[in-house]
Amino acid sequence: MLEGPKVPNEKEYEKVLEFLNHKLRPEHGWSIDKEYPTALNLANRHNMNIVVSDDRIVSHAVLKPLIVKSPHLIYKIGAIGSVVTDEDYRNQGLSHKILNESLNLAKQQNCDVAILWTNLYDFYRKLGFELGGYEISLTFERQMAYEYTQYKYSKDKNVSPEALAKIYSQHSVATIRSQDEFRKFLAIPNTQLYTIWNLNGTLAGYAIEGKGADLSNYIHEWGGSVTAIKNLLGYISHVKNHPFNFIAPKHSVNLINELKKYADFVNEGYLGMIRITNFEGLAMKIKKAFRNVGISDFVFEKNQDSILFGCNGDLYTIESEKDLIPLLFGPVDFDTQDIFKPETAQKLKTLLPLPLWIWGWDSV
Ligand SMILES: CC(C)(COP(=O)(O)OP(=O)(O)OC[C@H]1O[C@@H](n2cnc3c(N)ncnc32)[C@H](O)[C@@H]1OP(=O)(O)O)[C@@H](O)C(=O)NCCC(=O)NCCS
Repeated sequence: MLEGPKVPNEKEYEKVLEFLNHKLRPEHGWSIDKEYPTALNLANRHNMNIVVSDDRIVSHAVLKPLIVKSPHLIYKIGAIGSVVTDEDYRNQGLSHKILNESLNLAKQQNCDVAILWTNLYDFYRKLGFELGGYEISLTFERQMAYEYTQYKYSKDKNVSPEALAKIYSQHSVATIRSQDEFRKFLAIPNTQLYTIWNLNGTLAGYAIEGKGADLSNYIHEWGGSVTAIKNLLGYISHVKNHPFNFIAPKHSVNLINELKKYADFVNEGYLGMIRITNFEGLAMKIKKAFRNVGISDFVFEKNQDSILFGCNGDLYTIESEKDLIPLLFGPVDFDTQDIFKPETAQKLKTLLPLPLWIWGWDSV
């Protein structure tokens, strides 16, 4: 008899970890909760969903709500991860049911959107997700010069979370994190921290490569000035002596332009698969952001089954919330589209696409 989707009770929590370790991390020497210390945590148990068959866990997904600050709005985002169904129970709709439950939890907790990382695009499209946002990936295959008279470098992980948090806080788009969360993230297995220091002993920047079973040879988190990061990557290219990738949000324009001079490949991809979970709340935040920059005729309304989007008199009717994802978060180019008049496109471009980014440590 199948039971669920339901939130695991405290006794079932350990069984959930056993199930996930068995299915997703069969060959690793650590438990999966060490990789996702804030999502797979007893304190987040109410955001887990399972299906149980005769005392056996057979399907699971977890939601981790994140508060993400950005220049014009503060998002609440539901990151979804560790989606898995036991081989013997697949194609019976269990993941669909569990994911719908995760989306309900996201709605109940006022998440504006849900996000996840996957290559099963069509599977998630059926659940209302669409590819969106931007991720710029730069590949470095050769050694790069770096400045060593002005800075010191280290691979030592023993860096205070306070110093990292101070640099991290300078990001324009970032999840709000406590220092305890930094401490937990630093303890993730297979994480290499690289740091660059000013000669007076203050931290100038950091870069983090690897995250448990994922993201090896990917620098998925970093912080510091363009000069600090460029030099730190030069140091990494020497000590690693192996090609690596650096991922960055599209809005890090100056950094990307500088690093492009040294990168062997540059690729523009998507941030993830995104689904709107609170249309009214998100529309209100975006309309307010437009008013704050002096654009008061921005229209973003649900009208029975369709959505009206544009500026006064130049409106586009959208049938599905999914079609909003590229308009809101990209990829979109308002200069070359032929939907809106040039003056409307000009106004929309003031804020859209909205900068959105989830740093590697927050992905689930
Ligand atoms: C991907 C995965 C989670 C799907 O789990 P699942 O429980 O089989 O998923 P569902 O049964 O809900 O959906 C699977 C298919 O069955 C179909 N389906 C949905 N409801 C159904 C039902 N009641 N009866 C029969 N089939 C159904 C779905 O439409 C889907 O079809 P699609 O593959 O063409 O999109 C599972 O294959 C898995 O654990 N894979 C390994 C881990 C993994 O890749 N996780 C995803 C990481 S993002």
